[in-house]
Formats: sequence, structure tokens, C-alpha cells
Amino acid sequence: MTPLSLSDTDPAELAVDAIVVGLHSANGGGPLLAPGAESVAVAFEGRLAETLSLLGATGAVGEVTKLATLGTVSAPVLAAVGLGPVPEDGNTPTETLRRAAASAVRALAGSAKVALALPAPDEGSGAADEALRAIAEGALLGTYRFSGYKTKPQPGRRDPVKAVSLHVTDAADKGAKAEAKRAGVVTAAVARTRDWINTAPNELRPPTFAAEVAKAAGDAGLAVATLDEKALKKAGYGGILAVGMGSDAPPRLVTISYAPKNARKKIALVGKGITFDTGGYAVKPAQGMWEMKSDMSGAAAIAAVMVALAALKPRVEVTAYLPMAENMISGSSYRPGDVVTMYGGRRVEVLNPDAEGRMILADAIVRATEDDPDYLIETSTLTGGQVISLGKRIAGVMGDPDMCERVRAAGERVGEPAWPMPIPDEVRKGMDSDVADISQINAGMDRAGHMLQGGTFLREFIREGLPWAHIDIAGPAYHSGEPTGYWSTGGTGVPLRTLLELIDDIAENG
Ligand code: BES
Ligand code: ZN
Ligand code: MN
Repeated sequence: MTPLSLSDTDPAELAVDAIVVGLHSANGGGPLLAPGAESVAVAFEGRLAETLSLLGATGAVGEVTKLATLGTVSAPVLAAVGLGPVPEDGNTPTETLRRAAASAVRALAGSAKVALALPAPDEGSGAADEALRAIAEGALLGTYRFSGYKTKPQPGRRDPVKAVSLHVTDAADKGAKAEAKRAGVVTAAVARTRDWINTAPNELRPPTFAAEVAKAAGDAGLAVATLDEKALKKAGYGGILAVGMGSDAPPRLVTISYAPKNARKKIALVGKGITFDTGGYAVKPAQGMWEMKSDMSGAAAIAAVMVALAALKPRVEVTAYLPMAENMISGSSYRPGDVVTMYGGRRVEVLNPDAEGRMILADAIVRATEDDPDYLIETSTLTGGQVISLGKRIAGVMGDPDMCERVRAAGERVGEPAWPMPIPDEVRKGMDSDVADISQINAGMDRAGHMLQGGTFLREFIREGLPWAHIDIAGPAYHSGEPTGYWSTGGTGVPLRTLLELIDDIAENG
């Protein structure tokens, strides 16, 4: 993990390879340097903004303009990163800072040490800590790169920045130091999640995924238990087995617990761990099927959250339940028309083997309920319907209205937007099965409201009265395009930072 340090030395005099300053766009006139750039501007004899403007800089969010400093400041390279319009309240939005820091650091790949002098309110205020947290997270995520599988060195490919330093008014400030440390833990967890998602699906099948998760959690000092296919059979995990036994890499259920002595509340986290989703006998089109290597994003994010908790130590008990399976086609695959006896005894009529996530999740949810949690949060790349309704950036949240609102608010605070969606009665009605307790989908609705069907099915397995939320991350878990902001191509880590924020919220406010 990239080291991050705090510095209160004058940015103009820092012996680093590149210095980053912020640039606001101005209505009408040229771009304006953001607070933090004062001493650098003086070193340029007041002509820096004008020079940047000549080079085409406008201050638009995420735009990066680089120039050689030719001895004006100590760093040989200066990068100005766009921060958008001058904020009315003086504080640049945290998400803008997070994205800008990442864009700048990514644009400076090839430099060993980079210092950022971006605008942040004076230390000691909550706003200062928030801004610093965002800049630190963005800068560190800007250094993320999946190691990949290339057998030859790539000519022209520059290495990610090796060390980052952030300019603050007082590098000894306790709050600032705590934020820098937290950002290191959080971004390492995001990187861990991304690595798991980006790993080729032939290299991360359920037994391997389970072993890697168990090792990471064990190394962090957490208690881990893994059920293999024999143990799953013995205990009657019908949903996990139905999906998982079509593959010759058998399914797993991993539980991880973080239980500090001073905890008052207990949270259950459940995450979908389909290491590859072919769709089974409702086989998916070949075009784009490769992205289904990301169908374990929920489990990956939660496993990494658990590792982060061991370092962050919030006062709340958290247990993760991670069902893992590979949805394949074979002589032992489950088929449409099958009736599956789930963990806990409920019978489900399978109508579409591609709706496999809810099968493994229902088992895990019932298992989680046995431990009597105060809250249950589940997250999964559950439906293509989520992408159709909310797009690639905004997750869908279903469940208890208060819990949905807390998830939405937590997501907003960390820059992982999530939007509440309903669980309508008519969707549930159409899931009555002719032969079993419930159908897996609403066959009458066909492709309408797929995301709502997913949430509706999961609700059936939640204990009455338990505050819960289901976060459908089919879109935001995976970024298929060019790198942008702090997102690299591939796994994003969503909703890891939302979960950590929500856990903090519950630890503090119950
Ligand atoms: N893993 C998919 C959902 C998905 C789609 C995730 C696109 C990421 C991007 C899930 O298992 C699935 O196949 N869902 C079906 C449900 C349907 C059969 C009821 C879907 O959304 O089409
Ligand atoms: Zn799936
Ligand atoms: Mn599927």
C-alpha cells in the first residue's frame, strides 16, 4: 500500500517529484487558483493562473494540466487539477476533492513522490477532517492498479505514484493524523476488494475465494468459520447447494466476526459471492458475460470491510455471512421447475436459474438471523434491472424505510450514491407458487421491475421486525470504461465505504 504522509512545509519548497494545486473555474474570466496554492503562485510571480489558462486549463472538475516549473518551485513538475466553480460556502464538495486528488495522482503516474496542496479548511473543524479524509482517500485510490496477467513489461506504461504527501496547516494535529491513518486502512480495503473482483474467474472459484477471504480475516485477528459442501449439505443449505453444485468447484459459506467487548449493537452483513455467473440453464449471452466475474463484489466488499474493522475498531459487533458459489451449466446444475428446500425449511420453486443470487442469499440471511442481530445489511450484484433503473453509478436500496434512508445518507456522505426503491404488494402476489411456498421470480411480470422482484424475494427471509436493507450494486460495483476520478477500470469497491460509514453511524447512534 502506498505510504501517505502529512506535511506543513511550504509546498513551494517541497523536495518532491510533483506538486498538485487546485484550480477553480470562474464564470466569464480565466481559471482561479484554489486556496493552498498561494506560495506556489508567489513563486510564479503571480503568473501561474494566467500560464495555466494559456495551456488550456479551465478548472473543470477532474481536468489535469501539467507544466515544468523550471526552478520556480522545488518540485520539477506542477499539476493543476480542476475543482469546478468557487464554492459559495468556501468549502469545495468532498466528493469533488476525492475525485480531483485521484485524477491528479493518476495523471502523475511515473513520478515517485507527489505532494498535494489542495484547499482544506483550518484544522480542528469537522469540515477540515472531512476534506482531508476525502483528499487522502482520493490520492491513495489514484495509485490503485490491478497487477494483471501480462507476461511482458508494457513499454510506455508508467508505474503508479509510490508515495503521497498532503499539505496541511499543522502536520502534528491529532485529528489530521487520525484521518490520514483511517484513509490508509479504508483505501487498502477498497484495493483488496478491487483485486478480488478483477482476478480472473478461473483463478477465483468458491474454494479459493473462501480460502483467501479466510486468510485475510484470520491475519487481521478475526474469527472465521468456513462451511464446505459437506457441511452445507449436512445443515440443509439448499439454496447455496442448488446453485453451487452445478460447478465442480463446490460452494462455501464463510462467516467472519468482529466482536469488541464494548459493543452495544450487533450488525449482520450478508454479501453475494457468485464467483462467476453464466446464468446456468438460462445462459447469458456471450457478449459481456465476462463481466460476471464481478458477481462476487458484495462478498468481496464485505470481507474487506471486516478486515478494515479490525484496524478501525468501532464499538459495535459485526458478523459477515458470505455465501460463495459458481453458477455453471453441467449434469448437476439446477433447472427451471426444481423445488429447493432452503436453509430453515422453506421451499422455493426455481423458475430462472439466472436468479441465483437470491437463492444463496436467502440461505445466508436465515443463517444470519439465527445469531439475533439488531440490523441486517445485505449487498449484491443482484439484478440487471438495477442498472436499467438507476444506471451505473447509483445503487438501489430496498428494505425497512428507516434503514434505507440511513444507507442513502451514508452513501451520500462518502460519494457512493444509493437510492431507495419500493417493495410493492403486487410484485409479491405474483410470486405465489403453484407448487411450493414461493417462486423465485414474478413470472407474470417477466422483465418488469426486476430489481423490485429481487428485494421482494429477499424480504421473505427476513425476520419480522428486524431493521434491514438490501443494496443492489449490479451497476456501481464494476466500472467498464476508462478510469475516471478514483474509479479504475474493473471493480470499484462499492459499497465498502458506505458500509464503513453506516457501521460508524450505528456504533455512535445505535
Ligand atoms: N448477476 C446478475 C445480475 C447482474 C446483471 C449483475 C448485470 C451485474 C450486471 C444476476 O444473477 C442475474 O442474472 N439477474 C437476472 C435476474 C432475473 C433472471 C430475474 C437479471 O437481472 O436479468
Ligand atoms: Zn448473478
Ligand atoms: Mn444470474
